[in-house]
Amino acid sequence: MIFVYFILTVFLPFILTDDECGVTVTKCVNTNYRTLSGECTNLKNPNWGTPQSTYDRFAQPRYGPDGTIRKAVNGSDLPNARLVSRMVYQDNTLPEKRLTMSAIETGQFVAHDLSFAFLDGNTGLCCSASQQWLEEKPEQCRSVKIPENDPSYELYNVTCIAVTRSHTNKDFNCSTNLKYDEQLTETNAFLDLSLIYGLTEEIHKTLRAYKDGKLKLDIRNGQEWFLQSKTHLECFFSLSTDRCYRTGDSRVDQNPLLTIIHLMWAREHNRLASKLKSLNPNWNDEKLFQTARQIAIAEHQYITYYELLPLFLGRETMLKNNIIHKKPGFINDYDENIRPHIYNEHAQAGMRRFHTMVQGDVDLVNEEGCPYRNANLRDVINKPHWLEERDNFNGITRGMNNQPAIAPDTFTRREMSSFLFISNKPVGADIISIDLQRSRIHGLATYNDIREKCGLKKAETFDDFLDHIEPKKVKLLKELYDHPNSVDLLVGGTMERVKEGTMAGPTFNCIMLKQFYKTRKSDRLWFENSQSGLTERQLSEIRKASISKLFCDNAVGIKTMQKHGFLQVSKM
Ligand code: HEM
Ligand SMILES: *[C@@H]1O[C@H](CO)[C@@H](O)[C@H](O)[C@H]1NC(C)=O
Ligand SMILES: *[C@@H]1O[C@H](CO)[C@@H](O)[C@H](O)[C@H]1NC(C)=O
Ligand SMILES: *[C@@H]1O[C@H](CO)[C@@H](O)[C@H](O)[C@H]1NC(C)=O
Repeated sequence: MIFVYFILTVFLPFILTDDECGVTVTKCVNTNYRTLSGECTNLKNPNWGTPQSTYDRFAQPRYGPDGTIRKAVNGSDLPNARLVSRMVYQDNTLPEKRLTMSAIETGQFVAHDLSFAFLDGNTGLCCSASQQWLEEKPEQCRSVKIPENDPSYELYNVTCIAVTRSHTNKDFNCSTNLKYDEQLTETNAFLDLSLIYGLTEEIHKTLRAYKDGKLKLDIRNGQEWFLQSKTHLECFFSLSTDRCYRTGDSRVDQNPLLTIIHLMWAREHNRLASKLKSLNPNWNDEKLFQTARQIAIAEHQYITYYELLPLFLGRETMLKNNIIHKKPGFINDYDENIRPHIYNEHAQAGMRRFHTMVQGDVDLVNEEGCPYRNANLRDVINKPHWLEERDNFNGITRGMNNQPAIAPDTFTRREMSSFLFISNKPVGADIISIDLQRSRIHGLATYNDIREKCGLKKAETFDDFLDHIEPKKVKLLKELYDHPNSVDLLVGGTMERVKEGTMAGPTFNCIMLKQFYKTRKSDRLWFENSQSGLTERQLSEIRKASISKLFCDNAVGIKTMQKHGFLQVSKM
């Protein structure tokens, strides 16, 4: 029996009064253990923030007729996404001064915990097999046509970057009271390690050991690794024995740094379960599992809000905006009227700014802190099995805590903007083109709209952008766009001068601050709320968690690491 341990078990029957997208909830059990889907986190609106919910909007969307991509102010097409990428996001990158790659990749892990645009159909059919533009293609395709004279692509005679549309409320006949098309997200909106535990009972069951409160991990060469999947098709294999990993989120295999962070959290769960069992030998599997899960999620929320986000958004600003607090003990700031839904502008623009901060190669570092090997991103993407070879896992774990990220400007490594997912093709995809196309498919409001929303001056002329954008970049905007009101949020936001102590300018910082405020306030089970199920003493222990401790506790063979893994070790 699952619920025997709950003293406070109350069944709350209710009738759904709205037609939100997301899972259908029939009743809630009021406990402080989270559901997998996130349903019943809000007891008044139990399907809020569940998988296949709509995004929220920071500002009214801008679409063309019938939800098509908007036009420029003068009625022509917006500048081609690849053209913008090529002109604005060149590979002229400088290293970031303070942050390591583990900060950036923990950011990716957090981004994936919160959002996963629900794509309509298979991207694979949206260009020809030889990456050529197709005049006739499936209806859902929104591919980017590569303009002529593109130095990266022309050489290889490639004319197409595949993009498919995202599902909206219209596709599922939900949220019918919305006046515009709204895209859906596949994951729940809560910062709850759903990438480790799965979003549905069906998946979750396959991930649990059902013994001693543990997740089912395979032991290979004396270490815990993810289960392998024989059906998952997204990996690039060299040997027929190579496999993808299987866990709660299909993006686990995308790059080895991200995979390591996934695995650290799965191992952390099992480590906690073991400790709990030795302290409470009479607890059964369910009690051990749920308690370990509660603690792991709390550590994840703590590390995200108190260690990572202050580096992205500024600690003082976060304190001032009540996103973090100085006071120990419970904060109890849950507000049941705040929707947990992720802002479309956050997922498709604000958080994607970090794509420009990703390194083009992966350093492997030894126990003495010296890099000893290095691999191009293209050679390790979608190849999780690579981590299990030699000392790669430890080498990369140390490496990502050592290697500087790329500076937060517009410049982007070509590994991301030309050679992404290259596999055995001559040239790959461009994340920037895809991001820009995605943000247009999602009908994001323009840069000027969001400036206004964020209390900046709405620009009448291009020169009004000079308050936050360098003259050289404003000049580029003039060349690309017909009118200040045509400029894409993603482009204007990325161009802004970065505010000291943060990773973005005022517009992206504004979006992300609003999102992370909402994410904590709308979570009834947030670790700093007394409903979280944690005790005061547990909470004060949670406040000692850190990314370096997570890595040290869960990597066999890593003995030392700097105290703050997100920050570079200063050079002597
Ligand atoms: C090697 C590193 C990375 C690669 C290869 C990568 C690749 C991708 C790809 C292919 C998409 C989906 C594009 C689409 O079809 O719309 C995506 C989405 C996204 N990425 Fe990354 N990414 C990386 C790192 C990061 C980092 C470091 C962050 C943030 C700190 C990040 C944040 C996001 C966000 C917020 C989305 C949208 C998620 C959603 O709502 O669907 N990514 N990325
Ligand atoms: C480019 O590739 C397409 C499709 O494979 C082919 O039809 C075309 O002739 C090629 N063009 C050049 C210049 O190689
Ligand atoms: C959506 O729901 C309404 C009301 O139940 C119904 O009349 C309509 O036919 C449905 N549309 C689709 C596309 O399923
Ligand atoms: C709209 O502006 C773009 C960019 O300035 C330009 O290329 C295009 O020709 C203009 N279209 C019209 C209809 O004026």
